[in-house]
Amino acid sequence: MCGIVGYIGTQKAEPILINGLLRLEYRGYDSAGIATIENNGIKNIKNKGRVNDLLSVKGIENLKGTIGIGHTRWATHGKPSSENSHPHLDNSNTFAVVHNGIIENYAELRKDLESKGYHFLSETDTEVIPNLIHYFYNKSNLQGELKFLSAVNETCKMLKGSFALEIISSDYPDSMIVVRKDSPLVIGTSPTEHYISSDIPAILSFTKDFYLLNDLEFAYLSRNSIKFYDSALQEISKTATSIEWSAAAAEKDGFEDFMLKEIYEQPKSIRETIGSHIIKDGKCIIDGLDLSKEYLQTINKIFIVACGTAMHAGLACKTVLEQICEISTEVDIASEFRYRNPLINKNTLCIFISQSGETADTIAALKLAREKGAKTIAISNVIGSSISREADYTIYTHAGPEIAVASTKAYTAQIMLLDILALYLAETLEINLDKVEIIKKELLEIPSKVEECLALAPEVKEFANKVYKEKDIFFLGRGLDYSSSLEASLKLKEISYIHSDAYAAGELKHGPIALIENGITVIGILTVPHLVEKTVSNLQEVITRGAKTLIVTNQDLGDKKFDKVIRIPEASEYVSPILSIIPMQLFAYYISKEKGLDVDKPRNLAKSVTVE
Ligand code: M6R
Repeated sequence: MCGIVGYIGTQKAEPILINGLLRLEYRGYDSAGIATIENNGIKNIKNKGRVNDLLSVKGIENLKGTIGIGHTRWATHGKPSSENSHPHLDNSNTFAVVHNGIIENYAELRKDLESKGYHFLSETDTEVIPNLIHYFYNKSNLQGELKFLSAVNETCKMLKGSFALEIISSDYPDSMIVVRKDSPLVIGTSPTEHYISSDIPAILSFTKDFYLLNDLEFAYLSRNSIKFYDSALQEISKTATSIEWSAAAAEKDGFEDFMLKEIYEQPKSIRETIGSHIIKDGKCIIDGLDLSKEYLQTINKIFIVACGTAMHAGLACKTVLEQICEISTEVDIASEFRYRNPLINKNTLCIFISQSGETADTIAALKLAREKGAKTIAISNVIGSSISREADYTIYTHAGPEIAVASTKAYTAQIMLLDILALYLAETLEINLDKVEIIKKELLEIPSKVEECLALAPEVKEFANKVYKEKDIFFLGRGLDYSSSLEASLKLKEISYIHSDAYAAGELKHGPIALIENGITVIGILTVPHLVEKTVSNLQEVITRGAKTLIVTNQDLGDKKFDKVIRIPEASEYVSPILSIIPMQLFAYYISKEKGLDVDKPRNLAKSVTVE
């Protein structure tokens, strides 16, 4: 939630900041702002609305400064408005700050500062930060860089919550300080300029070398140097990491929207995920994972914990884990798991899935599992993300940057990696090796089957165009098709704003069927052979009550009377969730387009949910 960007170098900062903000807009888009250091002090320009609206704010064309910070906001404290937009300045206009995260104790800090004579212009939690810096700065007897750094450090000690901060000061016109705690921030570097951002893709076109900060580490940036400090302000050394993603991967590449591009990238992202982990010398090897047979034999329970689409990926793999690894597997929503005192001990293996690696609830759930003595594996798509710093092991999907808020290629890569993980566990345990070999072969065929699913786009579009004005659309499935239905429904509601629910088809008669009336659209997913006939009967019940039906299946359904059948390639039930979701992603996409909505940035949502 919220994107921050910064630049310190020799070029004009304003266009670089705007460019970065446009790429970070998926993280929040209700207001935006930038501040640069000009000859006469800090110039702060901010506005309610999108980043492009900022370009029409008077004075932006006059910014010449070569150091600046920027922010695009997803409102938490205070409505979207110019006053509540970042950057925020202290009362003396000496310090400007942008912040991603939440300051939980801001109310008491604000009260305390007010008692000291400070006044506030916004309703935000952030505004206490520049004023606290000013307070500590004025109290300090130190000189030079250390005075600035120490004021920021003292301020961070006062803050409860999460923060990624960029701070500039008119007293230090050639410097910037950045620090993070539980919120993402990366520093892109080159010999004479540095770029700061909430994520790597936003600044990938400028550099491929990045520094990653741990919690409460500070970077003091000048044009041609960076110094790093720990929380005791002892200088520490860091090595830059080179990122392999190409800048083009973070561009639309001729597609109308990032979501469409990412849907079409799935054969490649799945191939890369397979290629990075699976089958070396005929065995499953997972880069970054090293579990022994003796340890796995002590495991009697697997928990998969995540939010949203990542949680659905867990649901899609529960069966394969239980049946191939013979370990009972439970899938839970991170925000529920963390507050329900789950039964975990050293005999539990906990897997946490997060595309961004920054989701607050998932990270908190992971910390809880570790406290209770479980081994933890994080699955993430973002190298160096916060979750990787907390887990015992981090294994990566290799989906490339996912920019659209609606997750598509990360989901299928997560399922693929969980499938590979299941095979790895079974191989290590030396059980069900015949089934392992069969699934291994199947997994290798998945990318080309995904290509076949993508070729169904025209058929899917045609049906989407018929139903895009609907108010409600329901999804039905059994077993793994129920988990795919949940994901299909989430995709549809988040980008089309059509009310949608998914039901286990057998539950229909226990209540939901009361919602079925003439003309309503029901989508059935039918890929689990032994459950197909049962779901067909349930669909017959909704047809009798006047529903229009779209079916996604890999089975021969004979001459049953459905309005539209989308036939996907055959695959075993373990891997079919990767295939059945492709037409459903396209369905959601085409409905959203037909309604003229912003597919990549749906209302009220943000790509990475760093607040609980
Ligand atoms: O970054 P994460 O995988 O932890 O994000 C979890 C959810 O917020 C995310 O999957 C969300 O549900 C997507 N917008 C769905 O498309």
